[in-house]
Amino acid sequence: MVEPSAGNGLLLGPTLATLDEESGYGLIEDGALAWRDGRIVYAGPRATMPHEFALIASPVETDGLVTPGLIDCHTHAVFAGDRAGEFELRLQGASYEEIARTGGGILSTVRAVRAASENELLEASLPRVRDLIADGVTTLEIKSGYGLDFDNERKMLRVARQLGEQLGITVRTTYLAAHALPGEYAGRADDYIDAVIEWLPRLHAEGLVDAVDAFCEGIGFSPAQTRRVFEAARALGLPVKLHADQLSDLGGAALAAEFGGLSADHIEHTSDAGIRAMAASGTVAVLLPGAFHVLRETKLPPLDALREHGVPMAVATDCNPGTSPLRSLRQAMQLATVHFRLTPEESLRGATVHAARALGLTDRGVLRAGQRADFVLWQIAQPAELCYWLGGRLARSVYANGRIIA
Ligand code: NIG
Ligand code: FE
Repeated sequence: MVEPSAGNGLLLGPTLATLDEESGYGLIEDGALAWRDGRIVYAGPRATMPHEFALIASPVETDGLVTPGLIDCHTHAVFAGDRAGEFELRLQGASYEEIARTGGGILSTVRAVRAASENELLEASLPRVRDLIADGVTTLEIKSGYGLDFDNERKMLRVARQLGEQLGITVRTTYLAAHALPGEYAGRADDYIDAVIEWLPRLHAEGLVDAVDAFCEGIGFSPAQTRRVFEAARALGLPVKLHADQLSDLGGAALAAEFGGLSADHIEHTSDAGIRAMAASGTVAVLLPGAFHVLRETKLPPLDALREHGVPMAVATDCNPGTSPLRSLRQAMQLATVHFRLTPEESLRGATVHAARALGLTDRGVLRAGQRADFVLWQIAQPAELCYWLGGRLARSVYANGRIIA
């Protein structure tokens, strides 16, 4: 990936929410943040900043709150078309599964993606990703899964890489060819999985795959089929994550954990055994309150058990045209507080520290010397406001690699 040139700078006066302890916001009032060559060199009280950092760049005096850059660790942000018509059908009573079984749902987006040129797909995706960035996102995971053949999965992953290069953020790509069964494989799901496994090393060889995912569900793929995809990932040394136990409990979270998965995502129906397996393997629980909200779900993820077993909880948008047309991670954090009763601190940690972990990234998610200079200056006084305001633009400046990107 082509990294834009890294920046230097010095902010004096804001409150910092460093998140640099096991708990608490790590608040520092009248703080200083200094960075050089895209890396933080100081995040602490202005009063105790070593003099050498005063010379890095001309200081900018500011108020407001600085947090680590937000990390959206689960999105399907590359797609063409929309599914607003299905949204209307669901409001009239049709279910997500019914629509999927009659050829709508994911497959209708597959038709739109296949019909779009690479450039059209890029143009369709850019505004969404710009919106995510404008509300604080500096690292973004993007899945394939609307191509479902070699050329179209490749096209999606190439567009994901281009978005990162054009917009100056980090994009992590996830191969999700095992998302739905394309029409040409109707009744031959195992043959389709053979193809998915055959495409993977070719796409990986082009540098297009950072992780591997599957939709393990009645309307997706079975645990046995998912296991085969995971074995292919493991053979290439690629980490796995899983759309697990969203609509029913097929033991998906435990399967992800068995493969040392980075994350198990959705997990509304995950059992206690699944959660224990996640705790043992260090697999992050990625909560997706946008899909929960839009599908008007009532089954909550097992939050008490996740807390009890110490499973780190991330929060992501799941930005996609079907279940979560959500273009703000801060809004997902807001939904996580109201629907899932996460505290604002858990929500912020979920979109920074724990989201980094869900992507296997150790160089971001907190404000600390040595970490990437990815951070947001918000025009608010306290961190809870990130989850308090619905809508609006709270980010004053978004920095990635030490440079302002929004
Ligand atoms: O995370 N569950 C499967 N995948 C997406 C939905 C994709 C779609 O409906 O287009 C999800 O909810
Ligand atoms: Fe998803």
